[in-house]
Amino acid sequence: MPQIIFIQPDGERLSVEADSGITAMEAARANGVAGIDADCSGACACATCHVHVAEEWSAAVGGPNDEERDILEFADEVGATSRLSCQIVLDDAMDGLVLVVPAIA
Ligand code: FES
Repeated sequence: MPQIIFIQPDGERLSVEADSGITAMEAARANGVAGIDADCSGACACATCHVHVAEEWSAAVGGPNDEERDILEFADEVGATSRLSCQIVLDDAMDGLVLVVPAIA
């Protein structure tokens, strides 16, 4: 059961335990993580679940596919490690994963 760390724009850290096989968005929503609205419920269609993957986790998590990249164009504060958290499927190897929630514009 990986532990995922969400960091808010003000630096607040929230560690949540998540089952392997669910998405980072689902873990965030289940634990009340602010800033992960997930308006489309994980359909890769809204970009309201945007996060920045911490640099040290970027290679392990991987980058977005073409569909996700298209949706990310609608997000604010997109950076080199931006992902839609609904497209990050968690596994045990992601224990300690750090995801940074962008500031809401
Ligand atoms: Fe809508 Fe992720 S929840 S794109």
